[in-house]
Amino acid sequence: MSEPRPIRVALIGCGSYGAQHAKFFARNADVTFQAVADLASERAAAFAAKYGAGYATTDVARVLADPAIDAVWISTQHHTHAPLAEQAAAAGKHFFLEKPLALTLADCDRIVTAVERSGVIAASGFKLRFFPAVVAAKAFIAAPQLTTAHVIDDHWPSEFWANDPVQGGGNVLSQGCHMMDTILHLHAASPVRVYAAGGNRNHPARDIVDTAAITLTFADGAVANLSVGDVGVPPHASKFALQTSDGARSLSLYNRLNSLMTRTDGKVTEHPTWPEDGAAVIDRAFIQAVATGGPSPVTVQSARRTSAVVLAAIESIKTGQAVDLTTGVYAAAMAV
Ligand SMILES: NC(=O)c1ccc[n+]([C@@H]2O[C@H](COP(=O)([O-])OP(=O)(O)OC[C@H]3O[C@@H](n4cnc5c(N)ncnc54)[C@H](O)[C@@H]3O)[C@@H](O)[C@H]2O)c1
Repeated sequence: MSEPRPIRVALIGCGSYGAQHAKFFARNADVTFQAVADLASERAAAFAAKYGAGYATTDVARVLADPAIDAVWISTQHHTHAPLAEQAAAAGKHFFLEKPLALTLADCDRIVTAVERSGVIAASGFKLRFFPAVVAAKAFIAAPQLTTAHVIDDHWPSEFWANDPVQGGGNVLSQGCHMMDTILHLHAASPVRVYAAGGNRNHPARDIVDTAAITLTFADGAVANLSVGDVGVPPHASKFALQTSDGARSLSLYNRLNSLMTRTDGKVTEHPTWPEDGAAVIDRAFIQAVATGGPSPVTVQSARRTSAVVLAAIESIKTGQAVDLTTGVYAAAMAV
């Protein structure tokens, strides 16, 4: 029997998180790292040299036209996600697209349409779903009733591109999406209602929302709270944390979701901490999907739902009203 051939990949976006993916490609024998592309030629060249990519270019079209590439990783600023995803799909390339899917529902719809039309395998970068402690938590509690969670980072400089309203969208859209996605992934039913309070506390020169306390209601009556901000937490709380209960069992995900404590009938189990493996957990899942012809490990439809709920929370902050997710522009995005 012949060995399966390595998946031939290219990276678009040679920045700080692109380096995580490049590191994975450089270390894995089932991947051939064919090319890197970046608007900055020196950055692309440095990545190719450091991580052993076949060639470097500033021309994304060259990568997308290359018949020796099966799949591309897009790790660029958020306003470029929709156009690059559309180009990749039109070229017939499977693509992995970093989170959030996009900053507007219209851009999310563009990406979903491009994937559905082309039939390529596409995944969004919600790596937390694949952290071993999160996988074990989902197996332990199938239908949470009450969840409390936070993603609270240290202060982001106002001039950071992710705080730019067009390029990044601000902390709540850019980073809150990670924990919103984890909550939606763990809960059994669809979210039906969002209410949120918050606003812009620390970046007055930017038209963004940087702080949010979000309350979700699900179709099965379950509820969740999510706090997001760049105001810092003590180390024991860690940037990412989540607790949930189904009424009989409860659990705590902590230490950036690498550690898990479970409790049932008064018996507490502290599971051994898993080492954090960065982007490798999701890169591995996507490579496997491409090698076997799918399905996607994180569908663009599910990533659109995550962005839609965060956008609804921001709408709620601005209007002071709860948002009904079962009607209007949000309803279609709830189908995953
Ligand atoms: N999954 C995670 O935990 C995680 C963590 C950090 C960042 N991210 C995501 O990764 C993505 C990139 O973030 P980053 O921090 O690496 O940004 P970055 O600014 O460090 O890098 C982005 C790179 O993309 C390049 N680029 C931009 N537009 C381009 C285009 N049209 N064609 C080619 N290259 C282009 C830029 O020149 C830059 O080198 C974002 O979606 C971000 O939210 C994910």
